[in-house]
Amino acid sequence: MQLTYLGHSAFLLETSTHRIVFDPFLDQNPSSPVKAADLRCDYVIVSHGHEDHCADALALAQRHGAAIIANYEISEHYAKLGAKTHGLNPGGAHGFPFGRVKLTPAIHTSSTEIGGGRRYMGIACGVLLSADGKHLYHAGDTALFSDMALIARAGLDLALLPIGDNYTMGPDDALLALDYLRPKLAVPMHYNTWPIIAQDAAAFAARAATAGHTVRVLRPGETLGF
Ligand code: NI
Ligand code: MN
Repeated sequence: MQLTYLGHSAFLLETSTHRIVFDPFLDQNPSSPVKAADLRCDYVIVSHGHEDHCADALALAQRHGAAIIANYEISEHYAKLGAKTHGLNPGGAHGFPFGRVKLTPAIHTSSTEIGGGRRYMGIACGVLLSADGKHLYHAGDTALFSDMALIARAGLDLALLPIGDNYTMGPDDALLALDYLRPKLAVPMHYNTWPIIAQDAAAFAARAATAGHTVRVLRPGETLGF
């Protein structure tokens, strides 16, 4: 499979059969290498309701016919706006034409501004995606939690972990997360988008290597195969 970093926590995953976008924050993110209008995709997976994770979900659904996979509240929200959706909740998995998606716990909030107020958008989640014989974990926005050791039991080929601090775990806790998750490869996300989440990803990768983990830092627009 091919994974392309789209900046912040957004990624494009290309399986043997489908194009899947995680947490699209594109048109309002100056570091995004692509606009929603140009990002053809079949599915959009949204970890939680914050705008920096779902800003372009509806546009991708409308423009490209992509189905939105998210927690029940978010899926119902987009279904009412005319999108194809599939709602899940943590612990629940479902088989899709490209593979299997399981929502996992995350420690974080989840809301979206609608009509001048913030609406509760269900619980924040992580995502365990299995396709083409590989297992990928997108942690969403989260604090460190020791039940990451349970997620590790899937045998992770790739883990996408926030390191920005302030809103999510920072580098110190992300290093502990690697001890729990033990992925073959990890990619940092959710950093440097704004000054408050500025981090040295190369330093994080070096510290991870010292602890026996493999971290690859991707520039927005860069692709890796796994
Ligand atoms: Ni968030
Ligand atoms: Mn966020």
